[in-house]
Amino acid sequence: MPRLSFKGGVPLKGEVRASGAKNAALPLLAATIMMSGKSSFTNIPQLEDIRIMIQMLNSLDIHSEYTENNQLTIRNTNKVRHIAPYEFVTAMRASFFVAGPILAKTGFAKIPLPGGCLIGKRPVDIHIDGFKALGASVKLEHGFVRLSASQLIGTTISLPFPSVGATENIMMAACLAKGTTTLKNAAQEPEIDDLIRLLTLAGAKINGAGTSTLIIEGVSHLTAVTDYTVIADRIEVGTLLIASAITAGDITVTNVCPNHIQSLLNVLEDCGCKLTTTPNSVRCCGPKTIAPVHIKTEPFPGFPTDMQAQLMALLTIANGTSTIEEAIFENRFMHVPELNRMGANINILDGIASINGVAELSGAEVKITDLRAGAALILAGLAAKNTTTVHGLKHLYRGYDQLPQKLASLGACITV
Ligand code: UD1
Repeated sequence: MPRLSFKGGVPLKGEVRASGAKNAALPLLAATIMMSGKSSFTNIPQLEDIRIMIQMLNSLDIHSEYTENNQLTIRNTNKVRHIAPYEFVTAMRASFFVAGPILAKTGFAKIPLPGGCLIGKRPVDIHIDGFKALGASVKLEHGFVRLSASQLIGTTISLPFPSVGATENIMMAACLAKGTTTLKNAAQEPEIDDLIRLLTLAGAKINGAGTSTLIIEGVSHLTAVTDYTVIADRIEVGTLLIASAITAGDITVTNVCPNHIQSLLNVLEDCGCKLTTTPNSVRCCGPKTIAPVHIKTEPFPGFPTDMQAQLMALLTIANGTSTIEEAIFENRFMHVPELNRMGANINILDGIASINGVAELSGAEVKITDLRAGAALILAGLAAKNTTTVHGLKHLYRGYDQLPQKLASLGACITV
């Protein structure tokens, strides 16, 4: 089993470039199911989840090829298959993003239900109710969802919760519906804006980007887009900034859109970090003493659940007690017992973690249970005394492009 052993205690210094965003790239690739012709993308991160989406597209007869490391060409010859294979949807929840595009493009889709995952139940009821509202008939059989509609029809849909995936899936389907769809209480994450940008270049008519109401006027077809650049990964950026904060380092992250991480920047400033932003970079100087903070995870523009574990790692060595309320996923504290094994003092009660800062963490053998938990344990190891060994790296490589290598380039004692 792959593992990573490294020594903590080195203040990280230098400049590092953020990779493209996984959570933007996945729905962008799914959207190519609706886009006839040959599309090409740059800034595609090299990740396990991206490989799963590429395999999913191949199985649907949408063929792709890396032209260079981070450049992908995708060919859609309008012969899209209807059935998404079980192994891809169960391996990665975001594979369900193909449901809306297949349905809209072909009139019929058969997709396995994604099932549970470690960080929570994560149902797809909001996606399915959206397809129903657009006129699709929905049947659940043998673990698959069968969706059919000879023509989707635009309507008004109010989401019960601003789900990121449901907003993307329903919006994609609505692009090829007849008439106008108004999507209310839509999620506003930057990755949704990126998807709107691609769909618009492909010929879609979408108004309201960056707001909670999207108005989508259906069009008859979408065409390929070339040289599309995926936005930077705001969660990777945040993780690198915390690597600076937790080691009292001085790191500049480039290829960044600071607006996408404003809530995190505010929290880091409250913790005592000195931040300098330009339109495409953020420099973070970590403080000698980290001040405690109190946060709650929320949909964008609130504090992202995907940064919760990493921030918690930082707060383990704050000067006082911090609290974090996890309000998006019901079981996203699996890093807590592992951080406590490294000497942290964290208690959880009713979905709120109280983090009592300790003077120092000590290296230990720890196990990664999910992607962001993995980043948190590596961050804790960077600050800890002695050697930390992190097991279960496969979770990390689902969503971080070369993180150990990037940390090593900033001076971390990591041999990769
Ligand atoms: C996306 C991100 C993930 C991030 C999450 C929240 C991708 C590939 N993944 O996941 O990294 O942590 O947003 O910012 O973009 N829910 C329902 N029914 C549904 C859909 C969601 O109850 O039909 C619930 C989920 O169980 C969860 C909450 O809504 O508790 C948020 O989920 P959602 O916003 O849909 O997250 P994802 O799109 O799965």
